[in-house]
Amino acid sequence: PRRLLAALVGALLVAGCARAPQSILDPAGPVARAQYRLFTFDVAMVTGIGVVMAFLILYAVFRFRRRGSAGGLPPQVDGNRRLEIGWTLAAVLVLIPLAVEPIKDEFALAAPPPGQDVLQVRVVGHQWWWEFEYPDLGIVTANELHIPTGQPVQLTITSADVLHSFWVPRLGGKMDAVPGRQNKLWLQADEPGTYLGQCAELCGTSHANMRLRVIAQTAAEFEAWVRTRQNPVTQPQSDLAARGQAKFQQTCAACHTVDGTPAKGKVGPNLTGVGSRTTIAAGMLQNTDENLARWLQNPPAVKPGALMPNLNLKKEEIEALVAYLRGLK
Ligand code: CUA
Repeated sequence: PRRLLAALVGALLVAGCARAPQSILDPAGPVARAQYRLFTFDVAMVTGIGVVMAFLILYAVFRFRRRGSAGGLPPQVDGNRRLEIGWTLAAVLVLIPLAVEPIKDEFALAAPPPGQDVLQVRVVGHQWWWEFEYPDLGIVTANELHIPTGQPVQLTITSADVLHSFWVPRLGGKMDAVPGRQNKLWLQADEPGTYLGQCAELCGTSHANMRLRVIAQTAAEFEAWVRTRQNPVTQPQSDLAARGQAKFQQTCAACHTVDGTPAKGKVGPNLTGVGSRTTIAAGMLQNTDENLARWLQNPPAVKPGALMPNLNLKKEEIEALVAYLRGLK
């Protein structure tokens, strides 16, 4: 029956969670896999202990229940040294692996395995978006973290304002983003794909809208992405976009940077190459003309609490800004 129960629980877990895009039960890299192993090990141990204890309790209840009409007290037993030593030892023996396994993982996962080429990324949590900087590559981007597959990525995580927490469940984690502290976390993806993440520390009105995605690419695709990011489109591609750029310099440049232009603001996300991101507003919306226009029209209406205010842009201005920003590849 225990095997049956295990199979049943396993089937429920697999059916319920494994297909979910943010499930620790569907690990996609070595860090997440080690954590998944630890999780299943703990669940198995604890389930085993629970089953044995439940059996012993039920056994005692039935075996020593009151039977017949015999009066008086049952025999009073006052301690049994052999039994007491026995169950104390048994508990210690069971607890040792429960303590040793996480300690082993704690050391194994503290840093990427030595001897491998490690990609360094600085992660900064902001209300309510993520900044990603590749210090060795001269790239700053937001909300979409591109990484090569099969290579460890060392994240140095901090915050610009309040506590956040970086978490991409299928790749392993999570790690708090704390102002003034540089917290370390590394992860690695086996296969190309998009892995969803989410701020995991309540950080204000739009905590739930502080999403991120890790876009894992083959080494060649990642190289191509790096080259594009290092040589971004900075010039408007049409007259409409040129009007958009003029408006951007006037209205947006105090908060946003576009590399290769006079826009050097540091308050909001760096928008270099924003036209080639798949989403906007920290993963809330697909990156389309319509959604970007909707965002520009009134950001806090799309994302409650958004620190970008409603700029009361006219329809023509929004159209021009959309043409400019969507052209930044
Ligand atoms: Cu940032 Cu929750």
